[in-house]
Parts: sequence; C-alpha cells; structure tokens
Amino acid sequence: MARQTKTQAKVVPLRPRKKPSSVALTPRQAKALRKQDAAHLVHGFVPLGLQQNKGVPVFVKGQGIYLWDTEGKKYIDGLASLWNVHIGHGRKEINRAVAEQMKQLAFAPTLIGPTSVPTVQLAAKLAKIAPKGLSRVILTSGGSESNESMIRLVRAYWKAKGQPKKTQFITLEQGYHGTSSGAASLTGIPLFNAQVDPGLPGVIHMPRPYSYRENNGAEELEKIVQREGADTIGAFVAEPIQGVGGVIVPPDDWWPKIREICSRHNILMVCDEVITGFGRTGSMFASTGFGVVPDILVSAKGVTSGYLPLGVVLFKEDIFQTFLETGDDYAFWHGYTYTGHPTVCAAALANLEIIEKEKLVQNARTQGRYLQKQLAALHALPIVGDTRGKGLLAAVELVRDKATKEMFPADLRIAQQVWEKALDNGLITRVAGANNIALCPPLIITKKQIDEMVSTLGRAIREVAEELDGEWQRASGK
Ligand SMILES: Cc1ncc(COP(=O)(O)O)c(C=O)c1O
Repeated sequence: MARQTKTQAKVVPLRPRKKPSSVALTPRQAKALRKQDAAHLVHGFVPLGLQQNKGVPVFVKGQGIYLWDTEGKKYIDGLASLWNVHIGHGRKEINRAVAEQMKQLAFAPTLIGPTSVPTVQLAAKLAKIAPKGLSRVILTSGGSESNESMIRLVRAYWKAKGQPKKTQFITLEQGYHGTSSGAASLTGIPLFNAQVDPGLPGVIHMPRPYSYRENNGAEELEKIVQREGADTIGAFVAEPIQGVGGVIVPPDDWWPKIREICSRHNILMVCDEVITGFGRTGSMFASTGFGVVPDILVSAKGVTSGYLPLGVVLFKEDIFQTFLETGDDYAFWHGYTYTGHPTVCAAALANLEIIEKEKLVQNARTQGRYLQKQLAALHALPIVGDTRGKGLLAAVELVRDKATKEMFPADLRIAQQVWEKALDNGLITRVAGANNIALCPPLIITKKQIDEMVSTLGRAIREVAEELDGEWQRASGK
C-alpha cells in the first residue's frame, strides 16, 4: 500500500457547536486543511501563486449574511458568495425541503421522459414569475450550461424557421457568460479565452454602454447588423447589467433601443440574467426593470440561492410553436442527465417561496437604494472615481486621478490590493474588471449590515490609498 504523503491528512471531523462563532477547528486541523487545499484542489479563477503561498479561506459555517472560517474568523459575505446566496446562509426551510424530497425519490430522468413532481412544479412556477410570454423552460445545472442550451436553442430555432444562415451571435465586450466552450466564446473578456482560443466561430463582440468612460450607444448594434447582414445573425446576447465585467449599468434607454433594433431586424434578443435574476436589482428580472421582454432569458444562481446547482432557460411560446410546427417527431436533442433533478427543484421551490414570502425583491429595491447612497459617500476617498449599481448589485471604481479618470497601472493590481485588505478586515468582495470592487450581498441584508459592509470597504480602500501615498506622491512628483 502506498505510504500516506504529508498532505493526505486524515479527514477532519467537523462538529460545529451551536454558536456560529465557536466553529473553529484546532490550529492543527485548520493548517492541515489549508495544506490539502494547496496540494490538491484546483480553484479555476485563483492565481496559482496566491493559493500556494497565502492560501484561501476554508469556510465551515454560514448564517444570514455572515460566514466563519476554520480559524473562527467572521466575514461579511459581501458577494452573496458568488453573486448567488440571495436568501442568506443557514436556511432551515431549504434543508427540510431537500431532506423530504430525498426521502421520497432519488432521481427521475426528465431528459428521456419520466420526470418528478417538484420538477414539473418548478417549471410551472418559473413560467408564472417569468417576464410575459416566456412560458417554456429548459433546466440545466448552472449558468454556463444554460448558455450552451441557449446557443443550441437559437441555432435550432432559425433552422426550424428555414433560415439556417442566421448563425452569428453578437455579444458585448467584457461580457461574461461562463467558461464552457460555447459560453466562453460569447464571453468578451480575453483573460478567460486567451489560453484556449479559437472559440466558436461567428461571435462578434460589440462595445458596451460604459457611461463612466465611453459613450457607446445602442447604435453600435445597428452598425454591426448593417455590416454583417441581419440574415446572418441569430441573436444578440447580453447581461442586463454586466457583473463580472465591472457592474456596468446601461443608461435607461439602452435596452429599449436594443429591443427595437432586434425586433426590426428579426434577431432574437437574449438576456443573460445569471447574476441579475430573481430579485437582485429590485425587480424579479433586471430586463423587466429596464422595460423590455427578451425572447430568451438565461438564469441560474439566485434560483436556488446556491444551495444546490441549477440553471434555467426561459423562452417564448412562439419559439416552441415553431418547433412543434415542424412535426410531431421533432425533439430538441439537447439536455443533460441532471436536467430537472428532483432534489434541486425542491430546493428551488423552497427558495422561491422564501423570496416571495419575505418580499426580498422589494428589499433589494429599498436596501439597494440605501446601499447606492452609502457607497456614494466613498467618493470622499482619494482613489474612488465612481460608484454605481442597481438594487443590491454595486461596484466601486478605483482611479489614480479623479479629474482625468486616469487608471492605475495594471501591474499595481489596485483592485486586488483592496480585495485582499477587505478580506483581512473580514469582508468578502470581488475584483470585477481591472479596477473595480463589486458588492452583491444577500437580499436579506439590513441597513445596519449595509453600514457595516460599506464602512469595512471604506477602511480597506483608505488603508490601500495610505500605503500607496508615499510612493504615489514620489512618482507623480508632488
Ligand atoms: C452573467 C453570467 N452568465 C453566466 C455565468 C456562468 O455561470 P456558471 O458559473 O454557473 O456556469 C455567470 C457566472 O458568474 C455569469 O455571471
């Protein structure tokens, strides 16, 4: 038998006691876990050096908007973990629904026919809360998978319509749609694709409506349609508000203009609401908040608040009818083993019930206004150039010079520095775009907790600015 290596430490028995703050492991156990993480686990988006040298926190407990790591350190979950834990951590209702469903039935193969009660109930519920007319539902296991399904849906639709040349997709520069092959091709952030390009052919990235820096209007879409020809374009795909790309909120008239252009040229309009869905921005879906109805809506994350993996694609009845008209033998020939998993659907139903019962969409709107107001006060800090967002989705953009909006040199990794400082101070945020720090707390957050979150972020920014100060003044000759 092979000898155990140092890193193959024994499985650490976790017996969290009643009080969340007493969940700490012994220092030896905590160290062993960190070592095992560095030795074995790949965290896709973590620079290898950071994991190997500093390590990542290992969480053992979550309650509401707070998390505790193996050392008993408490954090504010300022990113709802990965933009997804809408209802907060530790909700017993989900626990009960999942346990109940598992007792009844392990699995049902929806893909090939037989399905389960919560799967059907969830499809009906989603159709009910979806923007008007989006009555058809595809279930997947996450955002990337949903975008894969969406790509195939668009292609299949135009073929069924007798317009097979409509294969191109237009998406936004710096948009994020996932990292599976098709979804990654739609993604407009070179960092994610440079290692593996070329991606799917026929994807055109268009300038985004980033009003703090660039004034790109919806006419950019019109220009591309004129150049490429509407008969080659299947769909326009974008997040209503870019998340990973830096929380870019378009002007109010941008989406209605995009909708008009898509309709006039017979191009499907797809909203990727993986982050913005299920109340995040103060309406059930952000597209509704902008006054538009997409032909296809892709979402994930908040549909289960991250308790179990689920993605959804909601689409218009017309698209379904087009398939139906091709004949009774038509099938979509796409899906996954775990499509409509009963336990996952039971978790989603319980989660949506909480969102409705506790009026979390309204809370996102009310507390969101407060969050945006409190963040605006950070303009008093020397390196804050912009604060923006909608509902409980927000970002702070860091600049070297407020007047000129000059950016910090990339090698200073300014946002990464603030992110690390915030983490040290017990706040989880995310670098989104080169110079932005994103906030996206659980929708249950209170005013007092927003104050705590914003003041911790302010402290982290101030500390980084102070450290920069000497060097910065010398470099600029002040
Ligand atoms: C807008 C958007 N689309 C798609 C995805 C991919 O989702 P997943 O990571 O669940 O595959 C994400 C993930 O953050 C996202 O923000």
